[in-house]
Amino acid sequence: MVPSAPVSRSPLGPQVYREMAVFSGNAHRALAEAVCKHLEMPLGDCEVTQFSNEEVFVRFLDNIRERDVFLIQPIVSPVNTRLMELFVMIDAAKRASAGRITAVVPYYAYGRSDKKDQPRVPVTARLVANFIETAGADRVLTIDLHAGQIQGFFNIPVDELTALPLIADYFRNVGYESPVVVAPDVGDAKRARNIAQRLGAELAVIDKRRIGNEERTQAMGLIGDVDGHDCLIVDDEILTGSTMMSAVRLLNARGARSVSVACVHPVMSATAFEVLDSPELSELVFTDTLPLVHGTFKSVPTTVLSVAPLIGDAMYRIHTGGSVGALFR
Ligand code: R5P
Repeated sequence: MVPSAPVSRSPLGPQVYREMAVFSGNAHRALAEAVCKHLEMPLGDCEVTQFSNEEVFVRFLDNIRERDVFLIQPIVSPVNTRLMELFVMIDAAKRASAGRITAVVPYYAYGRSDKKDQPRVPVTARLVANFIETAGADRVLTIDLHAGQIQGFFNIPVDELTALPLIADYFRNVGYESPVVVAPDVGDAKRARNIAQRLGAELAVIDKRRIGNEERTQAMGLIGDVDGHDCLIVDDEILTGSTMMSAVRLLNARGARSVSVACVHPVMSATAFEVLDSPELSELVFTDTLPLVHGTFKSVPTTVLSVAPLIGDAMYRIHTGGSVGALFR
């Protein structure tokens, strides 16, 4: 697909934006390249470096005056450096007279800090939104936010894509006979129901408890019947693997025939590679919204589904003023 429509109008004003220009920070260049390959256009040239004092420096090597600029940067480890790179890229693009700037953030870090649920704690997801806007972004394109209401933390348009249909299609092709889709936490029930409906499967929900502010969880109970069924646990992200592994153990103890695990965002701390590389689960499926930076899985079968075509199609629709929602109808 060639982004042939050279002129589109911003919903924000009467400006006319010329061609698309796509750039990557240092978070996930392979994804940005795959998006550009899908769009049949080159990835733009841009230096994103650090001085010896760790200050971030950015310089666009292409002219981007009046261009429709897309900056691809999921917020992966080292999270605060990648965030700073994004802010500085947006600022540099603004000062280079870009026509419109879309921050393409396939994984929005700090999403779990989305409410003040204890005394004297921050709402960091809101703070990050403020920074992205203040830096000068005109729009945000993201995938499966931890909580949908994070969209409302922005005063600029946010397009939130979902990779759940990709995951559902994958498991439809696996062809389990009567699978049960399992939410590893009550908060994940809507997501799991989405997949269950797409697969025509039953739904089960685990009652998970988090132990204080530590990264440890416990699966306390199960609503639903998994005895003799192939189970598919679906979560938005995996960090330490604690949530998933306690769910896997509970389902195996309740007689599941097999347990597969799927998530959109493989945040994967080093611990996750130890915890999840286990014969207790039969398969691990995730997307490439993030690169794996802390290790690899050695024995558990893994499948990576690419979100590059989804992001590319959404960017093209944003550029040409098409409906992004229509991608999911
Ligand atoms: C929590 O609400 C999320 O949906 C995930 O369950 C959580 O982020 C996973 O973290 P971990 O892998 O450390 O248990």
